[in-house]
Amino acid sequence: MATKTALITGITGQDGAYLSQLLLEKGYRVCGVSPRRSTSDVNLSRLEWLGIRDDVELFDGDLSDLGSLIRIFEACHPDEIYNLGAQSFVQTSWSQPVLTGQVTGIGAVNLLEAMRILAPEARFYQASTSEMYGLIQEPRQSETTPFYPRSPYAAAKLYAHWMTVNYRESFGLHASSGILFNHESPLRGLEFVTRKVTDGVARIKLGLASELRLGNIDAKRDWGHARDYVRAMWLMLQQDVPDDYVIATGVTTTVRDMCRIAFEYAGLDMERHVVIDPKFYRPAEVDVLLGNPDKAQAALGWQAETSLEEMIREMVDADLARLGGR
Ligand code: NAP
Ligand code: GDD
Repeated sequence: MATKTALITGITGQDGAYLSQLLLEKGYRVCGVSPRRSTSDVNLSRLEWLGIRDDVELFDGDLSDLGSLIRIFEACHPDEIYNLGAQSFVQTSWSQPVLTGQVTGIGAVNLLEAMRILAPEARFYQASTSEMYGLIQEPRQSETTPFYPRSPYAAAKLYAHWMTVNYRESFGLHASSGILFNHESPLRGLEFVTRKVTDGVARIKLGLASELRLGNIDAKRDWGHARDYVRAMWLMLQQDVPDDYVIATGVTTTVRDMCRIAFEYAGLDMERHVVIDPKFYRPAEVDVLLGNPDKAQAALGWQAETSLEEMIREMVDADLARLGGR
């Protein structure tokens, strides 16, 4: 069988790196969209960490620039397109709402347009999110639960989600959305709460810091491992018929308890180190998320394989190794 080509936006991010690794293992040619930053250096740290930096092809482009995407399609001829690129930090979406709308919302439509014009036979994955449930309308959220976004990020993602559905229904594109609940790893950005905690624990353990400042630790999330979740993305594009799927563990935990797991693993008492700082509260909070992954299990044969405890231990170990110079 000829090698398939995958095009990934957000290839330098957490999921982009793990997805690249998975697709390379499956024999794909992997191409990525690389937006221009203040220097010509691209953030390759995650691809380097996985040892695949030289195995992917990067193309200059930006989700907010349709012309750049068209050029990339002409150069790489993708069979599968994974739209993972986004301004993905919820807190920042209040301070940069327009950029978040342009990249996270309209960016997806730019990519769908490029596909409709140049690669209508390709398959498309949209990185939708549990944040779209926001102020939850059902205790366990499934594909049929109504959405209620609570941030500019979630509103932008909801637009991208419905445009993916619309391009599927209007133009017959093979376009699927994964409604992914929070997923983490040692490659998670430092600003997200799990990584902030595991990095903070490692700093305290190594004597580099004495406190960790957090916001609302009563919030609850359904946390899984990014390595498991990128497998679900790929599975969705192997189905004959495009569709939307919730990807979650089915377990929800408070930030407080997640934090306790990390501190206890390092032999530390969280009560002595965690300081609540209102600076990290959000203008509108998503109090609780809990996903129902039954459809993904039945249709894709997918289920989460890593527990929260295992993942947090892996993240603490990785941060201890990084900060300890190992
Ligand atoms: P991430 O680590 O923040 O990565 C985001 C990626 O998007 C980075 O590669 C970034 O490039 C790229 N990007 C930012 N602006 C761009 C632009 N204008 N044009 C092209 N690319 C751009 O996010 P992640 O955790 O891997 O998540 C992947 C996707 O899944 C995102 O769309 C996120 O919103 C969504 N999602 C994530 C979760 C989760 O829990 N992780 C859950 C549900 C949905 P730079 O490296 O150059 O900044
Ligand atoms: N980041 C952060 N920093 N969050 C904190 C802190 C803190 O100091 N203290 C408490 N929290 C709470 C937040 O208020 C939120 O309720 C929860 O921890 C999780 O925050 P994040 O880790 O920033 O993730 P998120 O749930 O807002 O968004 C992530 O998951 C979404 C899927 O549900 C991101 O990856 C989104 O891109 C993704 O769509």
